[in-house]
Amino acid sequence: MNNNLASGTSSPPQAVSVPITRSAIFIVATLAPDTDSHQTVRDWCADVAALVRAVGKRVPGGGLSCVCGFSSTAWDTLFGAPRPAGLHPFREFGSGDRVAVATPGDLLLHIRADRMDLCFELATQLLGRLGTAVTTVDEVHGFRNFDMRSMVGFVDGTENPEGDEAVAFTVIGDEDAEFAGGSYVIVQKYLHDMDGWNALPVEAQERIIGRTKLSDIELDDSIKPTSSHSSLTTLDENGTEVKILRDNMPFGRPGSREFGTYFIGYARSPQPIEQMMENMFVGRPPGNYDRLLDFSRAVTGGLFFVPSQALFEALAERGQPAATSAPDSANPASPSVQNDDGSLNIGSLKGIPGHE
Ligand code: HEM
Repeated sequence: MNNNLASGTSSPPQAVSVPITRSAIFIVATLAPDTDSHQTVRDWCADVAALVRAVGKRVPGGGLSCVCGFSSTAWDTLFGAPRPAGLHPFREFGSGDRVAVATPGDLLLHIRADRMDLCFELATQLLGRLGTAVTTVDEVHGFRNFDMRSMVGFVDGTENPEGDEAVAFTVIGDEDAEFAGGSYVIVQKYLHDMDGWNALPVEAQERIIGRTKLSDIELDDSIKPTSSHSSLTTLDENGTEVKILRDNMPFGRPGSREFGTYFIGYARSPQPIEQMMENMFVGRPPGNYDRLLDFSRAVTGGLFFVPSQALFEALAERGQPAATSAPDSANPASPSVQNDDGSLNIGSLKGIPGHE
């Protein structure tokens, strides 16, 4: 794996890797079809940082942050070529009752803070500015559960990379230099059958997760099944482990018997997250799937590109792209569009009116 980050400070990432917070709001929205709405969204890209600052200043130490991402179709509609090399529509995995489903969504907002009022106010301000240019199709308010426990009662996030390692695994570098500082993010909303899960003996739950429940210690390889969640989500590439950065949040409405986990995973390419989903839903080898899925159903799924902070703000200067053909969902990995000189022209002023 190429761990070289782009040199210099010209491409700092959005707030992808931040200290753990107590609250989060996840918003997935679709774009309105008209070009005025597209201009509204482009203009909004330049406003987000100031809105985060304005709301965040009201609670010193509140840890407010926001990450914004765009789907493959939204990128083509709003910004056109060039496009991030790895951006494609969300790929579904699995079959029958066990499917990582793809659901509509053009824009992702991942808002985090230590207090829900901060998240709520920022979401209100950001969506207010977007107005009718977008329609929210999914909104989840997540909370941090006792000692970082997921909805299924196990500590979640233990094996996350931290510090420089988190940056190396999540931030695009030389491999797609014009999009350096960006990341890819996959989200899935899961609903759990908590009655079924809680009916299992703790030892059975531990073999499903691959860790002890109370003390959060990894099971010894001699007793950890190859189908355990931690085994199937551990990736090895030529002897080196490939990690992703997760910040899952429990959510739910006990009165409606709704108990969920909002999965969110960041990486510098969609590939490792997709490989983990394939291992979980199809199995490694096929059939040796993640038994957590016998008690958890994915009801949403989306893949988004998160531009670097500088590129995100600069996107406001892009004009409406010339009609671009939408990526073929049957062949989603559309190659990036290159100039005659072989470069992707992002970061230059090409495409910005008045700078042709
Ligand atoms: C039903 C939703 C999910 C729940 C409740 C859940 C929960 C957990 C828990 C409790 C752990 C062990 C502690 C830790 O290292 O964080 C874990 C580990 C992990 N999960 Fe999940 N997870 C879910 C979905 C996913 C998905 C969809 C992916 C990736 C596509 C994923 C990737 C990982 C990874 C990479 C690890 C660390 C494995 C290791 O290095 O040992 N998880 N998860």
